[in-house]
Amino acid sequence: MAKVLVLKSSIMGDHSQTSRLIDEFLKQRVENGIQDEIIVRDLTTLNLPVLDAEIFHALRGADNASATIQQIVQLSDELIAELKAADLLLIGAPMYNLNVPTQLKNWFDLVARARHTFRYTETYPEGLVEGVKAIVMSSRGGIHVGQPTDAVTPYLRSVLGLMGIHEVNFIYAEGLDISALKAEALNEAYQKARQIAV
Ligand SMILES: Cc1cc2nc3c(=O)[nH]c(=O)nc-3n(C[C@H](O)[C@H](O)[C@H](O)COP(=O)(O)O)c2cc1C
Repeated sequence: MAKVLVLKSSIMGDHSQTSRLIDEFLKQRVENGIQDEIIVRDLTTLNLPVLDAEIFHALRGADNASATIQQIVQLSDELIAELKAADLLLIGAPMYNLNVPTQLKNWFDLVARARHTFRYTETYPEGLVEGVKAIVMSSRGGIHVGQPTDAVTPYLRSVLGLMGIHEVNFIYAEGLDISALKAEALNEAYQKARQIAV
């Protein structure tokens, strides 16, 4: 049994292409006889706070935080515990304005935390999250993979790597706003999602 932490970040609710890819992957795991323990975090309804100086200092251990800020630190502790307990992190990361949705960035801003998920060494920060693999499902209206316009892939690789998550698999559904490409792109993405559901 694997513990799967699912992060959904599309603002499109039930119409989300990335969420559908995630659901297809999970359905295929069930069909393959894999019994997962799944936690789904829909970041669009979680309303995570935007990082500011007060929150930042409290996350770093300042002891003069207000009750509200202390609650945010507690939430960060919970999200980090959830991540560390997972075997697989399944991220829905649609491309919005060339990057990940704000809601997903807000999750990373609470979870990428010195002394908790990484620590500074003399050379480069060292990740403290062990034994977690990641799969990213990313839908896009246009074609971006390998282009400078794709900020999603390098950002996610870097921030996951910072925390020690180096085994990251990306599944893209690209060109979904291009009618000539959409059907084939979705078909391929679903096929890949099913293939890696092992
Ligand atoms: C707010 C917003 C911004 C978008 N920005 C881009 C973009 O920069 N590049 C792109 O190729 N597609 C862009 N799109 C199209 C989405 O990436 C595409 O519709 C994708 O399927 C969204 O995934 P979702 O259905 O899971 O939300 C954008 C869509 C929205 C709603």
